[in-house]
Amino acid sequence: MSEKLWGGRFTKSAEEWVDEFGASISFDQQLVEEDIQGSLAHVTMLGKTGILAEEEVDKIKKGLTTLLEKAKKNELIFSAANEDIHLNLEKFLIDEIGPVGGKLHTGRSRNDQVATDMHLYLKKQVQEILEEVKHLQDVLVKKAEAHVETILPGYTHLQRAQPVSFAHHLMAYYWMFERDYGRLTDALPRIDKSPLGAGALAGTTFPIDRHYSAELMGFSGIYENSLDAVSDRDFILEFLSASSILMMHMSRFCEELILWSSQEFQFIEMDDAYATGSSMMPQKKNPDMAELIRGKTGRVYGNLFGLLTTLKGLPLAYNKDMQEDKEGMFDTVTTLKGSLKIFAAMIDTMKVRTERMKKATEQDFSNATELADYLVTKGVPFRDAHEVVGKLVLKCIEENKFLVDLTLAELKEANEFFEDDIYHVLNPVTVVSRRNSAGGTGFEQVKLAIEKVKKLQKNK
Ligand code: ARG
Repeated sequence: MSEKLWGGRFTKSAEEWVDEFGASISFDQQLVEEDIQGSLAHVTMLGKTGILAEEEVDKIKKGLTTLLEKAKKNELIFSAANEDIHLNLEKFLIDEIGPVGGKLHTGRSRNDQVATDMHLYLKKQVQEILEEVKHLQDVLVKKAEAHVETILPGYTHLQRAQPVSFAHHLMAYYWMFERDYGRLTDALPRIDKSPLGAGALAGTTFPIDRHYSAELMGFSGIYENSLDAVSDRDFILEFLSASSILMMHMSRFCEELILWSSQEFQFIEMDDAYATGSSMMPQKKNPDMAELIRGKTGRVYGNLFGLLTTLKGLPLAYNKDMQEDKEGMFDTVTTLKGSLKIFAAMIDTMKVRTERMKKATEQDFSNATELADYLVTKGVPFRDAHEVVGKLVLKCIEENKFLVDLTLAELKEANEFFEDDIYHVLNPVTVVSRRNSAGGTGFEQVKLAIEKVKKLQKNK
C-alpha cells in the first residue's frame, strides 16, 4: 500500500503488484536528466510570468539542481510506488525543499511533461546518431579511395554479372547511408518542437509563456495544438522508421561480408577483433559481429511495428498505452549506436583480398556483355550480338573453358567482325575501366564520385 501524489480522489490504496504493473520507472529513469531540464525551464517560465514568486522559483531551482547532481552520481533511489520518473522526481523535490516543491507542477501535466522529455531525449540522440552515420560514411570513402582499381565480380541474382570496382561497391553503400542521414536530418525539425504547456490536453488557465520555456530548452518552436502536442508520437515513429531502413542497409552489407568471408568466396578477412572461434571446431573464424547486426535488425523493425500497433487505435489525447512508447525507442537508440560503431570498425579493419577478387573475375563469364557490345560497335544489332555470344558461352561451358580461351578463328566462326583487339576488351580490368557512363563503375567515374562525396562530407 502506498500514498499517491494523485491520491485525493481515491478511497483505497493500490496494491503493490498493481503498482508494479503500472510503473514505468524501471525504464523511464533514463529520462532523468531531460525531466529535470524540462522542469527547470518550466519553473523559470512560471517565475518570469509571475505565476510563482521569485523566492519560490529559486527554491525549486536549487532543489532541482541538487537532484540533477545526485542523478549524475547515481544517488537517486527510484521506487515503483511512485510510478514514473516524473512522480519520483516530484517526490524527491518535496522531500528536499518541502511543500513549495509541490508548486512546480502548476500549469503542467505529466502528459505534456513526458512528451517534452522524449523530445529532448530524441533530439540529443538523433544528433549523436547522425555523427555516427557520418563517421561510417568517412570510413567507406577512405576504404573506397584505397580500392578504386580493385575489381570484384558484380552479381545479380547472386550470379556473376559484370565485374565492378570494389570502391564502386563501397560507394553504393555510401549513398544508402547518405539517404539515411537525410531521413534522420529531415525528422529533426519535427522532433525539435516543445509540447510543454499543453497541460493534460487542453492547455491551462495560467498565463504561461510556452515560447519562453521552449526557448529555454533549446527547442526551435512549439506544438500549435495542445491535443496534438500530448498525443503525437509520430516523431518517435519517424525515428524508428528511419532507423529500420538504416539497419536494413547495414544488414545487407553484413550479409555480403558474411558471404565474402566464407571459404567459398574468400574475398575479405575480418579482423580478429570482430570474429570469434568455435568452442568445438578449431578451424573456425566466425563473422559474429556482422551476423549480430543482421540479427538485431529484426528487433529494430519489431520496435517500429510495436509502436505503430500500440498507437493505431488510440483516441485523443493521452492514454496509458502510450507509456509503451519508451522501451522500443531506448532499445533502438542503443542497438543503432552499437551497430553503427561496430560496423564502421569492421569495415575499417577488414582485410580485402584483392588477388582473390581479381582471380574470380578472370574465371567467369562476366565479360560476356563486353563481347556483345564489341559486335554492336561494329554495327551488329544488340539482339543478334546477344545470340552470338550466348552460343559462345554455351560452347565454352561444354568445352570447360572461358571466353578468353577461344581462339580468334573460333570467334570469327561465330561472327566475322571479331578481331585481335577482342582479347584486350575481354580483360576484366578493361571491362570495368570502360564503363564510364555517369554513375558507372569506370575508374574515372569512381574517382569523380569519391571527390564529390568528400566535399559533401566536409560540409556536414
Ligand atoms: N509514465 C507515463 C508515460 O510514460 C507518464 C504520463 C502519465 N500520464 C497519466 N495521465 N497517467 O506515459
